[in-house]
Amino acid sequence: MITTNSPLLSVRNLNIDVATGSGRSRVVSEVSFELRKGETVGIVGESGSGKSMTANAIMGILPDVATATGTVQYDGTELLSLSSTKRRKMSGPGIGYIFQEPMSALHPLLTIGEQMIRPLRYHLKLTKQEASRRAADLLDQVGIPPSRGVLRSHIHELSGGMRQRVMIAMAISCQPRLLIADEPTTALDATVQKQILDLLVQLRDDMGLALVLISHDLGLIAKYSDQVVVMLEGNVMEQGATSQIIHSPAHPYTRGLMDASPRLGQKQHRLPVIDKSKFTKLAPAASTSTEEK
Ligand SMILES: Nc1ncnc2c1ncn2[C@@H]1O[C@H](COP(=O)(O)OP(=O)(O)OP(=O)(O)O)[C@@H](O)[C@H]1O
Ligand SMILES: [Mg+2]
Repeated sequence: MITTNSPLLSVRNLNIDVATGSGRSRVVSEVSFELRKGETVGIVGESGSGKSMTANAIMGILPDVATATGTVQYDGTELLSLSSTKRRKMSGPGIGYIFQEPMSALHPLLTIGEQMIRPLRYHLKLTKQEASRRAADLLDQVGIPPSRGVLRSHIHELSGGMRQRVMIAMAISCQPRLLIADEPTTALDATVQKQILDLLVQLRDDMGLALVLISHDLGLIAKYSDQVVVMLEGNVMEQGATSQIIHSPAHPYTRGLMDASPRLGQKQHRLPVIDKSKFTKLAPAASTSTEEK
């Protein structure tokens, strides 16, 4: 068991290789960060930079073609070497995951209620009646009142914002201590995006969660995270406390992402093209912890 100030999640030298027709290809290289209760780490980078692969390795749901090395410690337990049975038992109550694609994460033919009740019965050992009541309470908690009849709906019947709220309700349903949100608002308009992110932060604070927030938008990450990991093509280009990254970005790629963010870029009418051919990786920071704050 960890002490109050030790990290809940500690990722060290995480490497992920994918089998290809001609051998192996490294898609995530030497990712390290630490996260404590109540903190948020933001992982930012363009498409294909390895954000979801990193999250999948923490969750233990890497595709069969991928292998991970390094260490991923959650509450003092090494996850990378854990058997899939043990992982399944712990991932419900331990770590909640908001998938990048709600449509592919949820079963199209089952009602939202049916899908919410299953993990509640498996992980929390609730009766059917108790699980139904808790599912309704969870939806209420994420801003969907029982009068909306969402428990009886199917995923395709819901708006994008409602789908994300359902995903969040499911991710927190078994009282996790760590929540990973992979691009939770990409397909949503700005107003709904803000509502969903505010909801995540409120849940983090109310439940004392640690949060891993993934996005391609550095402005969004900067607003909601304590520390930032900037990734490009599987490498960490730069990482550190959010204020340090935003006020004095050391890497030109980070500055490119800042210019590309509608929130951070000043008087930006067109999104710039980021020329990444010139970029080399910075030496890793001595520590990514936010202890010094
Ligand atoms: N199932 C898979 N099999 C093989 N390679 C994969 C698989 N999923 C992802 N990859 C590769 O791993 C690399 C990292 O992909 P990843 O999905 O982590 O990127 P990402 O940063 O999440 O991108 P996006 O912003 O588009 O979601 C990419 O080169 C991708 O092609
Ligand atoms: Mg992704």
